[in-house]
Amino acid sequence: EKGGYDYFMLKEIAEQPKAVADTLLGRIDGSGSLTLDEVRIPPGVLREIDKVVIVACGTAFHAGMIAKYAIEHWTRLPCEVELASEFRYRDPILDAQTLVIAISQSGETMDTLMALRHAREQGSKVLAICNTNGSTIPRESDAVLYTHAGPEVAVASTKAFLTQLVACYLVALYLGQVRGTKWGDEIRAVIRDLSSIAGAVDQVLGTMEPVRELARTLASKKTVLFLGRHVGYPVALEGALKLKELAYMHAEGFAAGELKHGPIALIEEDLPVVVVVPSPRGRSVLHDKIVSNIQEIRARGARTIVIAEEGDEAVVPYADHLVRIPATPTLLQPLVATVPLQVFACELATARGNEVDQPRNLAKSVTVE
Ligand code: F6R
Repeated sequence: EKGGYDYFMLKEIAEQPKAVADTLLGRIDGSGSLTLDEVRIPPGVLREIDKVVIVACGTAFHAGMIAKYAIEHWTRLPCEVELASEFRYRDPILDAQTLVIAISQSGETMDTLMALRHAREQGSKVLAICNTNGSTIPRESDAVLYTHAGPEVAVASTKAFLTQLVACYLVALYLGQVRGTKWGDEIRAVIRDLSSIAGAVDQVLGTMEPVRELARTLASKKTVLFLGRHVGYPVALEGALKLKELAYMHAEGFAAGELKHGPIALIEEDLPVVVVVPSPRGRSVLHDKIVSNIQEIRARGARTIVIAEEGDEAVVPYADHLVRIPATPTLLQPLVATVPLQVFACELATARGNEVDQPRNLAKSVTVE
């Protein structure tokens, strides 16, 4: 049932190109417009929405953080992302013009369920992004967009995360289309980019052996830091979360711009720091800033593990280890940049003798608050 892999997690990492392709399947018609049949919130209601609030936990929360960039960029609607466990306890401002998006692989996470119940009590519409047919969260929502990742068995979420991202991009584009902020050529261009992303994920998977080798050499380390900016920041958080839960190592993700406000004090000789580098083509200002960050931490002794787009030569002099990912549009980069971090955490966990599919103290779905 593990399909020849030692662990479900390895199998599920390998299934990501298919999961991504399946989640896109049938949702875009020949003319490049989106057809989201499972979204049963009438377009008229979506046109009246004045705010989007995303609630989720753990890895799904990281997908939500990335969705915020896409939603605000493509729809110009303000979008907040909040940990579901914090949401209802702070008396959030919600009304009938708020669209709440609840993201959950299992559809049973109690914190997320309680957050969406609270939102519905305030009259907000709730759209669930979920991987489990007929689970509680979609049943209690106004609409659902299913991710088609297939069953995810390993406790650590991998393929569900990538498909959550795809679903979030689809929702963002759909909102843009319905509300008239993004349509026609622009949507078609993003759709085209999305359609080639499964191939890009596959390409990354084919180049992971050096990442595994590197991970094995770091098995006795105490701490690994992760840095990113823009959509690379949630990717850094996700890389750190994977390492904590699987390798039981101290790992932290930072927004690279925050380094100078404190975290740079942590840098010491031979500390592994993974840096997710934004494309030099898109927001080149961010790219250049992150290159200076890499320079700064390396000058202080960090061992830099740099994840950068093919053709990005500026990072080469400062990378102790360079992991190449295919060039993608900025907003879509998390779909390829996350993969090496999953492989890294999985291999480190194995090297430390940990149970990869069933990490200590964790359960696949957390049905208590
Ligand atoms: C991390 C992980 C957890 C879940 C979180 C939410 O690898 O698996 O952080 O992402 O517990 O679970 P769902 O998506 O089922 O609501």
